[in-house]
Amino acid sequence: MAVGKVSLVGAGPGDPELLTVKAVRAIREADVVVYDRLVPQSILDTIADGVLQINVGKQAAHHPVPQDEINEMLVRLARAGRTVVRLKGGDPFIFGRGSEEAAELEAAGIPYEVVPGITAAQGCAAAARMPLTHRGLASGVRYVAGHRKANEPLDLDWRSLADPETTLVVYMGLANIEEIVRNLVAEGLSATTPVFAICQGTTPQERRIYACLETLPTVLKDASFSGPVLFIIGRVAAIAMERSERNDAGSSEAISVVA
Ligand SMILES: C[S@@+](CC[C@H](N)C(=O)[O-])C[C@H]1O[C@@H](n2cnc3c(N)ncnc32)[C@H](O)[C@@H]1O
Repeated sequence: MAVGKVSLVGAGPGDPELLTVKAVRAIREADVVVYDRLVPQSILDTIADGVLQINVGKQAAHHPVPQDEINEMLVRLARAGRTVVRLKGGDPFIFGRGSEEAAELEAAGIPYEVVPGITAAQGCAAAARMPLTHRGLASGVRYVAGHRKANEPLDLDWRSLADPETTLVVYMGLANIEEIVRNLVAEGLSATTPVFAICQGTTPQERRIYACLETLPTVLKDASFSGPVLFIIGRVAAIAMERSERNDAGSSEAISVVA
């Protein structure tokens, strides 16, 4: 039997209209879709009837299907001649373990492609009218993961991250946000640095918070976010807040603005 193929496909931040044309094509041609928890139902609804859908969804610190098994599953399906889409939230190579899956496919000699997706930072920020860089405010941007291995401190270079010239985007940081704020302020980032926090960005369930470093932990507790949350820290967050106040007044049920 001829070996099949695997497409590692980025599903974007949540809105199905933010899938790339190439992602839509790959999903249309697949006969199996292996997907993660972050992929919303509205995107799964675009998969044709009769296509096998396998949920390998992962929760923080809880992996219903261990990564090794996902890797083996992709190899097994391709060896059985299937055309497989491995559908992952955002971009498959940003905090998505897509590169590990690519390495396994390479080692097994399985043909594969990588279809880029809009990562949460870029999708959630731009859709909220927020630039990640802006002349005079932020000359660069850094993406970091704010989660930790059990009982270990966060392994981040706080000194270099506490840079007022650079926008800092924290993925997976909700559980550790107090520690993140404490470390950034301890390394000299102003406690009044603006922060934009967004939950389930670009979906109908989206909720936003505008705060500053020192108010963020309290404001977050009141918000009780549920679902994926992204933090964007830096001067550019003030632009997002101003634009939100100008453009969303009167239509902001999903938006909580906190000065
Ligand atoms: C395992 S990482 C995967 C990131 C993904 N590969 C990407 O490029 O966006 C999951 C984290 O991404 C962030 N995230 C993904 N989608 C999001 C969304 N729609 N709204 C807010 N945060 C999101 C959250 O920080 C979440 O905990």
